[in-house]
Amino acid sequence: MEAEHSPNATPPNPKTMYLFYGFATITVSSTLFLLPFIVTPALPRKLYGALPYQNTPTKHIKTALKLINNRIASKPPPNPTALPPQKLKFVDLGSGAGEATIQASFANFDALGVEINPSLLLYSRVASFISRPPSCQFKSTNLITLPFQNYDVLFMFGVKPLIEQLKPKMISEVRIGGLVCLYRFKLTGMDEHFEIVGREGEVTLYERTPSKINEYNKIKLNLI
Ligand SMILES: C[S@@+](CC[C@H](N)C(=O)[O-])C[C@H]1O[C@@H](n2cnc3c(N)ncnc32)[C@H](O)[C@@H]1O
Repeated sequence: MEAEHSPNATPPNPKTMYLFYGFATITVSSTLFLLPFIVTPALPRKLYGALPYQNTPTKHIKTALKLINNRIASKPPPNPTALPPQKLKFVDLGSGAGEATIQASFANFDALGVEINPSLLLYSRVASFISRPPSCQFKSTNLITLPFQNYDVLFMFGVKPLIEQLKPKMISEVRIGGLVCLYRFKLTGMDEHFEIVGREGEVTLYERTPSKINEYNKIKLNLI
């Protein structure tokens, strides 16, 4: 102990200190980087989805945004106000590491990512802080409780059981003309309510249409 306080103790070599801090920085940042991918598969599957964490590859995110923008260009959403149109609202349901949300923000959407896993949320917030997208937010929210009617575009790389569970919510909450973009999975058995308006590879874009059954009933009622 005395040697530590001895005036004759040699100060640490600056090179050794740089090496020490460099090593510590690399260790801490790589642990933070890997945390979500290690933690997520270990979380209870009933709560956090049936599969270990997987993200949408960048090229498919680009395809999704291209399909969405093409659709918006060919059929712009109505602007009922006299005010200049605002940015369209995009939400990634289960935003994971945040790339789709960040890319959507750079593509001029008002983008929100909702995620239930705290370590992925932390990761996406750090990624957003570093890349500084113009209009991008991440929220700790269970997507089941999110009001879908507040968004123009819903994006999801969802596991099949979750999509099945969400179907009634999509029918009742997605606005007429609202877009739903799915990677990997399809909205099967929903032709009455959703029309495919774009597809490329594993990305499918749907638009919420007025329910055909309701339209049929209206026509019937008018006829009576
Ligand atoms: C397959 S990953 C997709 C990540 C990202 N959207 C992408 O495309 O790269 C699904 C994500 O949904 C999240 N998730 C699962 N159930 C959720 C829920 N009920 N509410 C919010 N997020 C959820 C998971 O934690 C996971 O990060």
